[in-house]
Amino acid sequence: MSHQTVIVLDFGGQYNQLIARRVRECGVYCEIKPYTTALAELKAMEPIGIIFTGGPNSVYLDKAPRVDQEIFTWGIPILGICYGCQLIAHALGGQVTEAQDESAREYGKTRTYFDTSCKLFRGLPAEGVTWMSHGDYMEEVPEGFALMARSDACPNVAIADEGRGFYGVQYHPEVNHTENGVAMIRNFLYEVCGAVGDWFMEDYKRSAILAIREKVGDGRVLLALSGGVDSSVMAALLAESIGGQLTCVFVDHGLMRLNEGDEVEEAFAPWDINFVRVNAERRFLDKLAGVSEPERKRKIIGEEFIRVFEEESKKVGRVDFLAQGTIYPDVIESGAGDAAVIKSHHNVGGLPDTVDFKGLIEPLRLLFKDEVRQLGRELGLPEYLVSRQPFPGPGLAIRIIGEVTKEKADLLRLADFIFRDELARAGEDKRLNQSFAVLTDTRSVGVMGDGRTYDYALALRAVTTSDFMTANWARIPYELLDRISTRIINEVQGINRVCYDITSKPPATIEWE
Ligand code: XMP
Repeated sequence: MSHQTVIVLDFGGQYNQLIARRVRECGVYCEIKPYTTALAELKAMEPIGIIFTGGPNSVYLDKAPRVDQEIFTWGIPILGICYGCQLIAHALGGQVTEAQDESAREYGKTRTYFDTSCKLFRGLPAEGVTWMSHGDYMEEVPEGFALMARSDACPNVAIADEGRGFYGVQYHPEVNHTENGVAMIRNFLYEVCGAVGDWFMEDYKRSAILAIREKVGDGRVLLALSGGVDSSVMAALLAESIGGQLTCVFVDHGLMRLNEGDEVEEAFAPWDINFVRVNAERRFLDKLAGVSEPERKRKIIGEEFIRVFEEESKKVGRVDFLAQGTIYPDVIESGAGDAAVIKSHHNVGGLPDTVDFKGLIEPLRLLFKDEVRQLGRELGLPEYLVSRQPFPGPGLAIRIIGEVTKEKADLLRLADFIFRDELARAGEDKRLNQSFAVLTDTRSVGVMGDGRTYDYALALRAVTTSDFMTANWARIPYELLDRISTRIINEVQGINRVCYDITSKPPATIEWE
């Protein structure tokens, strides 16, 4: 795969993935590398440009992350963002200090004035809002650098040595709050680095197919298909590459949404692959009988899934490669973070370790989620699969509070379908990042016709979020909620009350369990 590469050198900033996504959105391939990466490795990537990210440190402290000065002698353009900007200033002889004056510390939206003769700001308005988040201040800029933007509080918001192609901005161009931020990144790529824009999905698809064929040869590949976006796109990509050498095992644990199993099967009908659908509803429900503790449910489903998958893979016969749906954020994040475990988030599809394979194949390893979706479209997968919301591996089991039974699962499936159907009819589904129904363990008294009912209370949950780490409850119009509630009560026997969850995350989580 030959395309131009930009390196995003990671100094620990919170928006680093966003920087990389922006670069790729601009049609340029990039990879995030930790700042500790050996220079030789970075050089071997033959980058056309390097971006130093933000980070939580102060450059003037002894232990601050640094980069070898040699990088400045390569003749490759560098853009420093926030900490990255201060690092350039510090490394090339400028002076960075802690802002003494409150007003020089800038956080949040800041009115900024740009010198539009600078390549970074070419063709953009001379004034706009930028998103700042820095407590340090460039007191002196290095020799050869000119000031290219200022704010009311700070004279040096952006610096540049255009002769050498070095640029630094104190603000975060990658976040949406910065007006024209992406256009500035684009300018860096195209005006400064000489990017040609050779990163697009059609091209990636072609080269990924060739790479898979080369790696697999005449070997056989096994894939656990869950029906989620990643495994579906991976299945389509492998199907397109090696056709009949691929076996997809789709374990239907009986806790899918309405019609989901059939939809997945249908989506793969056009390809000539070995598609194994295992209807294991009874098996999973038996294991879950009497269990109401959420983490226990997750564990049971995760383990049972592996067991079923192992059994099926033995039936397949010889298997050389196991396909895994690792995507780029997993690659970046693996090993990082020691946050408290709130939920175990078992991903159904965990690897069995008792099956023998020659190797793993991870065809989505370099892609961000939106790129995975794009690739899926490129491969001709139906939109409902490609733009699907995340659905937890344990499925409806963690949306049925308390014990899971077939009766409850059927009730929930139908109510959940009506909710999503009405959202789609109203065109609301596009702006929601996750929306689903939860069957509570509470029964309440109602009156229908002239009779008393004593049935389940259902909760509806819809959120907007950009990263699923935090989320806002969605403001759905009352009229629509009214329609949904009426339909559910009329069409789902066994539910006599509908509630709407108005809690954001935090303090709640998105799922109820
Ligand atoms: P929470 O509930 O933690 O959910 O706010 C954040 C995101 O993770 C999904 N989720 C899961 N996904 N297995 C999964 O594969 C799980 O056990 C699981 N639990 C939560 C949830 O749907 C949301 O997108």
